[in-house]
Amino acid sequence: MGDAATEKFPSGFAHYPLYFDIAAQRHLIEAVKAGVADAPFYQPVMPRTGTPLSVVMSNFGPLGWVTDKAQGYRYTSVHPKTHMPWPVLPQSLQDLWDDVSGYAAPPEACLINWYREDAKMGLHVDNDEHDVRAPVVSVSLGDPAMFRLGGPKRGGKTQGIKLFSGDVVVLGGEARQCYHGVSKVYYGQSALVPRGGRINLTMRRVNEIDRV
Ligand code: SIN
Ligand code: FE2
Repeated sequence: MGDAATEKFPSGFAHYPLYFDIAAQRHLIEAVKAGVADAPFYQPVMPRTGTPLSVVMSNFGPLGWVTDKAQGYRYTSVHPKTHMPWPVLPQSLQDLWDDVSGYAAPPEACLINWYREDAKMGLHVDNDEHDVRAPVVSVSLGDPAMFRLGGPKRGGKTQGIKLFSGDVVVLGGEARQCYHGVSKVYYGQSALVPRGGRINLTMRRVNEIDRV
């Protein structure tokens, strides 16, 4: 069992419990509803095998993270089904980035993950970005989830951090290169997400900027 006094997180990891209050969470859900009205959730699949991920996805911003059987993990400027640009990043997410990222340029991508019943996310490192100096900033909405954070090597020990609606997580510095995932969603505990489950919004910088 985790012991708060001795738990040590990789440097650059930050957890802001209830960063967004309930009104701000509802506002974000409205923004997601508006976004996915134009850029509907789609079913991503693993490269080569075509195995579906357990989450469905969409994106905000100039770039969106996508994956399919033929071309695998990548960023694209258009939705894979509608071929239209992704919806603009909501201002409150840009404000969050400005507040917690410590990074001089805006995020280019905001992945929207929708975890429905039994969805999870295997341990992985976010490494499809050219710019790893910028942190990953993510928001949890709806049902709670058990987030797992390990080290830079596959197969190492992980720690569990229960994330609730409105929480923000930052993976910067060393934590930017660390394995992480979602081992469980406590499905049905929150009524925030219209058709149930958990929404995770993950902002990332993709292309490098010159050091300022
Ligand atoms: C991810 O690492 O892509 C998602 C993390 C989360 O859902 O909290
Ligand atoms: Fe990730």
